[in-house]
Amino acid sequence: MKVDVILGLQWGGDEGKGKIVDVLTPNYEMVARFQGGPNAGHTLEFEGGEKYILKSIPSGGIFQQGGKLNIIGNGVVIDPALFKQEVEALETTGHTLTDKLCISKKAHLILPTHRLLDAASERAMGESKIGTTGRGIGPAYTDKISRHGLRVGDLLNNFEEKYRRAVERHKEILDSYNFEYDLQELEPEWFAGGVEKMKEFQIIDSEHVINRHLAEGGSILAEGAQGSMLDIDFGSYPFVTSSNTVCAGACTGLGVAPGKIGEVYGIFKAYCTRVGSGPFPTELFDDEGQKLRDNGNEYGSVTGRPRRCGWIDLVALRYTVMLNGVTKLVMMKSDVLDSFDTIKACVAYNIDGEEIEELPFDIAEGIEPVFVELPGWKTDMSKMQSEDEFPEDV
Ligand code: IMO
Ligand code: MG
Repeated sequence: MKVDVILGLQWGGDEGKGKIVDVLTPNYEMVARFQGGPNAGHTLEFEGGEKYILKSIPSGGIFQQGGKLNIIGNGVVIDPALFKQEVEALETTGHTLTDKLCISKKAHLILPTHRLLDAASERAMGESKIGTTGRGIGPAYTDKISRHGLRVGDLLNNFEEKYRRAVERHKEILDSYNFEYDLQELEPEWFAGGVEKMKEFQIIDSEHVINRHLAEGGSILAEGAQGSMLDIDFGSYPFVTSSNTVCAGACTGLGVAPGKIGEVYGIFKAYCTRVGSGPFPTELFDDEGQKLRDNGNEYGSVTGRPRRCGWIDLVALRYTVMLNGVTKLVMMKSDVLDSFDTIKACVAYNIDGEEIEELPFDIAEGIEPVFVELPGWKTDMSKMQSEDEFPEDV
């Protein structure tokens, strides 16, 4: 059997990944997160108003009956303090997790000092800051790549000493930033709270568990976070996150061979949004942008920041469909456009008078989007239950 992957094709942020994962999960026995960390916010809203925002925990199998196993894969970075909060929020509403959730020994830990380093680095960059979620994601992946990171498996063996050594390094960097902080305020929640909570869960060699499951004919859904335009290699660098959000990230982030990838579900919104800084060729600064924000409730689920909004960018979308080898495209939130008289779609970029359809190296400057205008469908799509009911214009 194969690993099917679900991922975002734009700049992340409420494309509806959580919702589609919930729809697809009944077809799989295992759901796994392969990259990112608590910068993600996957919202699941159930009838009756129950709403959960999952950050580190895969959103697939937690709410479903039937013994789905959820895995936090080796490609993920995890903050024990935030993990504890997330687990407890679910436990207080009656969802037990310890028998349903396993964590890879090779997943990297986000230390309290990583969060401080994230803040210090952003402050030092001033106007050119990335606009990160402030969760320590970049510094944790930096330590992973520079081979200073601490992994979940380290919790099981002489951890205190490794932790102190890592923190000493971080303190030196924080001092070089002239950044003031109070680590004693953060450590108890992280250590006594978070680390102890994590130890209640099975800490596993997830690559073996996953491949054994595949060899036995089992199915797996790999749940991506963020979106392809935030990918560290292919996104709008440096305004990106610090992991490979594209499909290949599922191979490295779970330990599955490329040939084992099956369907690739690419999720996108009928328009575009992004949070944080960075280029956004089709961004709207007018009433129409505000209307998208209001109709789509475009405020970040992790940080509450208003999302920047604009028309759909098909140049960027074609690019990310290509990079991911998408086999199933899923368009979300088209009902946000219900009341628009005219809807625009960017089909090419005009750069110095030349129309190009391939995403160029730099999308920060000198790009004029070429739009086609389509008549709006002016119908309430939110009530529709089947594809046959869609207006012809959609
Ligand atoms: P989900 O999974 C939208 C953005 C941040 C910032 C950049 C780097 O819910 O789609 P980071 O904290 O990762 O170093 O920030 O990436 N970003 C997201 N934007 N949705 C997300 O997650 C995001 N995770 C990170 O706003 O621009
Ligand atoms: Mg989100």
